[in-house]
Amino acid sequence: MLLNPFERRLVSGGLRRQVVRHWDMPRFLKLSGDCAGQRILEIGCGRGFGIEAAYELLHAKVVHAFDPDDAMVSLARQSMTRSGYFKNSPPARIWQGSATGIPAPDADYDVVLGLQVLHHIQDWRAAVAEIARVLRPGGRVMLSESLIGFIDHPILGRWMDHPADDRFTQRQLLEELEQCGFRILGTKGRGVWMTWVVGERLP
Ligand SMILES: C[S@@+](CC[C@H](N)C(=O)[O-])C[C@H]1O[C@@H](n2cnc3c(N)ncnc32)[C@H](O)[C@@H]1O
Repeated sequence: MLLNPFERRLVSGGLRRQVVRHWDMPRFLKLSGDCAGQRILEIGCGRGFGIEAAYELLHAKVVHAFDPDDAMVSLARQSMTRSGYFKNSPPARIWQGSATGIPAPDADYDVVLGLQVLHHIQDWRAAVAEIARVLRPGGRVMLSESLIGFIDHPILGRWMDHPADDRFTQRQLLEELEQCGFRILGTKGRGVWMTWVVGERLP
């Protein structure tokens, strides 16, 4: 589901950039170390702050990314071109698409990054299966997610649009990851409103 105007503004601004850099990335680094020399796919990249962080803070070699929202894809492409991130690395490939059908061969990536994306997807279980498919054995998934406690919150949840049914608790998210072939390496957060999860794709 695409963002409503409020959330679109929220995730396009400088505050979101700071949250990705200073809140999300340190948690992933603690849970799994950096991704030096690796190929990262970011699902639901929004306006591109995760791409930037994947190059700068996770030290990825190659970043690919997509989002179903045309406007977000354009913003991400523009900011990548302007930022000069590609002096020492290949340009991020950014396309319009959905995590429920990723146009990549099996086992193509070392890492899949998803920042606040799965809870926007009606069939989020299909997206988890796709993430597992495109990761190589031993590859890692890094997710930050909003949980049902946030989405159903009588005040917080009203500001944003999310699919209403089959949202998940932290336990349900971890179980789905395990069913799709991941070993959970660790989680951060209290697991009520938000969670950060890193899982390793088993062979
Ligand atoms: C809360 S925003 C997060 C954007 C970005 N990851 C960030 O951290 O700033 C959720 C994003 O998920 C995208 N999205 C919605 N449905 C999707 C789907 N089926 N596959 C991939 N991304 C999706 C939205 O377009 C939106 O850009």
